[in-house]
Amino acid sequence: MRKLIIANWKMNGSKELVEKINLLDPKHANIIICPPYPFLGAIKNDKIQLGAQDITKIPSPNGAFTGEVSGEILKSIGVNYVIIGHSERRDYFKEKDAILTAKINNAIHAGLKVIYCIGESLEDYKLKNTKEVILKQLRLINKFNKHYSDFIIAYEPIWSIGTGLVADYKDIEKIVSWINNMFDHKMKIVYGGSVNQDNAENMLKSWPIDGVLVGGASLKMEEFQHIISYCR
Ligand code: PGA
Repeated sequence: MRKLIIANWKMNGSKELVEKINLLDPKHANIIICPPYPFLGAIKNDKIQLGAQDITKIPSPNGAFTGEVSGEILKSIGVNYVIIGHSERRDYFKEKDAILTAKINNAIHAGLKVIYCIGESLEDYKLKNTKEVILKQLRLINKFNKHYSDFIIAYEPIWSIGTGLVADYKDIEKIVSWINNMFDHKMKIVYGGSVNQDNAENMLKSWPIDGVLVGGASLKMEEFQHIISYCR
C-alpha cells in the first residue's frame, strides 16, 4: 500500500516553493500539500493532491462572510482534503468541539476528506493520559460514522510538534493499532510531530502507520524529497 505524506506548510511558503512543488514527481507515495489558501490555486501538479489548512464553520457554501472560505469553494479549485482539529487551531483560536463539528460537517457536505488531528499535551503524556485524551477527541467523530472512510486521523502529540522531540515509533505503532481496532480499520492513520529526514524512515516502514504529516521539514524541498524517497 502506498504511504501518505501530508505537508502542512502552516503560515509559510513562497512562490518559489510552489514552483518546486509543481515539478515534484513522487512515484511511490501519495502526497497531499496543504499550503496557505493563496497558494492553493497556484499549485498545478496532477501527481499530488491539495489540502486546505482550514474551512469555514458557517453552514453555507457562499454569502456575505468576509474572510471565510467554504468547502464548496475549495472543492471548485481542485482541493480534496482539509485539516481540522490541529492543535494550533484548538489552542490559538480556541476551536472546541462545536466549531470542529461544524467544520467537519461542512467539509463532508462539500465532498472534502477530513484530516482530523488529535494528540495529547506534554502534561497529559507525563500523566499517562494519552489514551483518555485521544478517546475524547475521537468521540467527536462518532456522529460521522457513515463517513469514516472520508477521514484520515493524524496522531500528533502536541509535545512533539515543532519541538524536535519525536514519539518512539513503537509507541506510535501501539496507538495507531489501537485506533485502527476502534474504527475497524476504516480510516487511514498518520503520525505527525517533528518528522524529518532522520526519523521518517522508521515511521514509513512501519506497517500500521499509513504515513506522516510533515510541518517544518516540508518547507525544505531537499529534505521533503528525502522523506518521500523512503516510500519504496
Ligand atoms: P512539525 O509540524 O513537523 O513542524 O512538528 C507538524 C504539524 O504541526 O502538523
